[in-house]
Amino acid sequence: MCGIFAYTGKNGKDAGGVLLDGLLSLEYRGYDSAGIYTPESGSIKTPGAVAELRKKMPASFTGKSGIAHLRWATHGEPTEKNAHPHASGDGEIWVVHNGIIENFKELKAKLVVQGHTFLSDSDTEVLPHLVEEHLKKTKDFEKAALMALNEVRGTYGIALQYKGEPDKIIAARMGSPIVLGLGDGEHFIASDPSPILPHTKKVVFLEDGEVAIITPDGHSITKLDATKVNRIATEIDWNAEEAQKGGYEHFMLKEIMEGPDVIENTLRGRLIAEKGMVKLGGLESVATELAQIERIIIVACGSAHIAGLIGEYMLEEFAGIPVEVEHASEFRYRSPVLNQRTALIAISQSGETLDTLEAVREGKRRGALTLGIVNAVGSTIARETDAGVYNHAGPEVSVASTKALISELAALVLLTIFLGRQRLPGQGGMSEKTAKEIALALKELPNKVQHILDTKQKIEKIAKKYAGVRDFIFIGRKYNYPVAFEGALKLKEISYIHAEGYGAGEMKHGPIAMIDEHFPTFAIVPQDSVYEKNVSNIHEIKARKGPVIALATEGDTEIGKLVNDVLFVPSTLEMLAPILNIVPLQLFAYYFAKEKGLNVDRPRNLAKSVTVE
Ligand code: F6R
Repeated sequence: MCGIFAYTGKNGKDAGGVLLDGLLSLEYRGYDSAGIYTPESGSIKTPGAVAELRKKMPASFTGKSGIAHLRWATHGEPTEKNAHPHASGDGEIWVVHNGIIENFKELKAKLVVQGHTFLSDSDTEVLPHLVEEHLKKTKDFEKAALMALNEVRGTYGIALQYKGEPDKIIAARMGSPIVLGLGDGEHFIASDPSPILPHTKKVVFLEDGEVAIITPDGHSITKLDATKVNRIATEIDWNAEEAQKGGYEHFMLKEIMEGPDVIENTLRGRLIAEKGMVKLGGLESVATELAQIERIIIVACGSAHIAGLIGEYMLEEFAGIPVEVEHASEFRYRSPVLNQRTALIAISQSGETLDTLEAVREGKRRGALTLGIVNAVGSTIARETDAGVYNHAGPEVSVASTKALISELAALVLLTIFLGRQRLPGQGGMSEKTAKEIALALKELPNKVQHILDTKQKIEKIAKKYAGVRDFIFIGRKYNYPVAFEGALKLKEISYIHAEGYGAGEMKHGPIAMIDEHFPTFAIVPQDSVYEKNVSNIHEIKARKGPVIALATEGDTEIGKLVNDVLFVPSTLEMLAPILNIVPLQLFAYYFAKEKGLNVDRPRNLAKSVTVE
């Protein structure tokens, strides 16, 4: 997600230089535009890299304090006008923000009536206008900031500056991280410690609902209701690289560990559980066409394609719409038959995968309604599709896709409820009761994923045990059939061993010939409608002396008697099980590759964004 950095000091340091260096160490988070503000020199913003920002800054750019930002677009394209910092109408209040203001439309409408004019599409811009409004009445920056924050709903990590009190900066946290850096005659605010570490190792991590004030001489923290908070500073001994990884050894592990937050972010503001409804702003413009579509084609590559395969099961079972899923690289070169009643859904984390993009263009040429499930806002696929749903998973740095896949699945569940509720239950659509059940189960997923993540040491132990093998087969059925593909894909791409994903029922039609005591199987065998069939397939493998690891449902006391090793996940609805089951498979691949001493985040021969054929 976005990165924010703020500085105030009395040691004669040039705030412009301090802030630019800070932005450089936040670059790893991924961003599409950058900006900086000091009360002395005003703001400079640009789409693109920090290097572009540096070029745009005049030699005279100066300041003793200031705020800076790297933006990862969520509302509005990555353009100069949408880049942060954003200002109030009178240019007195400036803000940088990481997160999403969910009620920005209501707040904006109210402010417009009060005479405010907005210059960007960003949700953030309401914040400085709100503070301006309260400042007019209270004449107190701190009070005005608190009042504004109390009106805002959503997630934020922010830094606010007022031209009238230039050496004071206010920070606040709700859902998006904020850390304060406590130096000698200088203080800092940042999204993570990496830009602070060159200046001081003494930091304070804010918690949700807390507001902090920094000046060159000190800091104070309160809650949103202005009650005082006392927090002891901690000394961190991470180096800059460790700080970027949040203290984890690799980005891949950090991104897997973000799973619970990622699900929350994908669902945020979209799931109206009590009504069994889903609100997807990005599909509003095509809602009428979607109510009439008769067929869906999903195009994607790699892990995104696997998300599509799971989506096929969900959409057919709960929305009653026929779905086909294709590798984008195949779809674009054949002669598919589409019409206006066909929706072509492209799934892509980067939004730049060339094959997926070309499949979208081919779908458009053939008259289909094109939709995107995309993580990178403003990316080419997001722009070229007729409508879509953003995942809001934040930037993924590690080459192997982990958290993006989780968010794609959560987005597909939302889409399933949306399309299912558009149709009558008797005609394949979804009843309110079913929608409510799914919505409630969805809300429990973040805690359940966290529970799985808490068992990572056990997964590590099993991964280490098997790290010497050359081959692996992953098997599953129904919703977990594509999960088997993902287990294999993740393992092969970062550990370079031969791994295959297969339907458990297909083993006897060929692959079982490979099984012997040296060829292990990873069986995804939750207690669902195909449990007994899966167990029979495992018996067949055990009869050929094949070692088996089972991924089973907590409380299954039988499976352990049959297999060599078991990992457990909490139970959930059958359609949601892949979202849980994928997590231990990602961790298994991670620890397996780590044990082999491989470069987990940058596997050989692979690129993060595949913009070539
Ligand atoms: C797997 C992986 C790739 C991508 C694929 C599609 O871990 O990272 O298979 O899933 O290249 O990329 P996007 O989603 O950016 O279109």
